[in-house]
Amino acid sequence: MQSKFGSASEPLIETSGLTKQFGSVQALIDLNLRIMPGEIYGLLGPNGAGKTTAIKTILGLLEPTSGWIKVAGLDPAKNPIEVKSKIGYVAENPIVYDSLSPRDFLEFVASIRKIDQAVSNKMVTNLANAFDMAQYFDSPMATLSLGMKQKVALIASLIHQPPVLLLDEPLNGLDAKSSRIVKDLVSFHAENGGAVLFSTHIMEVAQQICSRIGIIYQGKLIAEGTLDQLRGQTEGKGGTLEEVFLKLTHEESAVADTTKMLREAFLKNEVN
Ligand SMILES: Nc1ncnc2c1ncn2[C@@H]1O[C@H](COP(=O)(O)OP(=O)(O)O)[C@@H](O)[C@H]1O
Ligand SMILES: [Mg+2]
Repeated sequence: MQSKFGSASEPLIETSGLTKQFGSVQALIDLNLRIMPGEIYGLLGPNGAGKTTAIKTILGLLEPTSGWIKVAGLDPAKNPIEVKSKIGYVAENPIVYDSLSPRDFLEFVASIRKIDQAVSNKMVTNLANAFDMAQYFDSPMATLSLGMKQKVALIASLIHQPPVLLLDEPLNGLDAKSSRIVKDLVSFHAENGGAVLFSTHIMEVAQQICSRIGIIYQGKLIAEGTLDQLRGQTEGKGGTLEEVFLKLTHEESAVADTTKMLREAFLKNEVN
């Protein structure tokens, strides 16, 4: 089957044995991913689990210590420019240019991407309206809130209509309405045959929009599947993703201990 973005039977993102070490820190250990066209894959894990490292390595910003990567069939180490043209990327803390307005910045991005101005203007205007940011479009980015900057970064990542979206904690700083729009955007992208890999530490986000979830913990993918499949991997039926996650990472008892400590601390305060 063909889609807007090519063959639907080949993975758009593939990694095999992907490992990344920073000195003595094992940030990523033997990561194997196969993300197909039409999939929204959520990499879910606590702070320091290796999510950003995985995304930056797939993008080609970090060199793997071992293992290989393919994006739309291409190796980012061998075809760095072509791979970047296949990817829309939003960083965890997106860099925008404070002295430029969103309009100037997005025109600049369109020009370096060599996108026809009329095409990009139309798309940018539609997205800016959807994100409710038209009134801020000519203000310097320095004056915008974190959420507004996040929206500008998202729009910039979509300008070249890439098949692959890599979004590192994309809902950070967004209000409820904007989060909803991002979720819709991601869904439309997948319906068009694109693939989305995004990271989050928020269970609810993963639960709401992912077709598949990978749980990453201390650099390792410890479980993967649909929400129902993940639930099946823990004893007992049902349960929220949070419960599944805590069981799989064996953080259940650590959380129980912390809750107990907190309760005692508050109770002591009340007595004093
Ligand atoms: N440039 C770096 N140099 C050294 N250690 C790093 C670097 N980047 C990340 N790490 C370490 O790698 C691990 C994974 O980090 P990261 O991928 O940022 O996690 P996450 O995005 O899931 O919070 C952490 O232990 C972090 O401290
Ligand atoms: Mg991160």
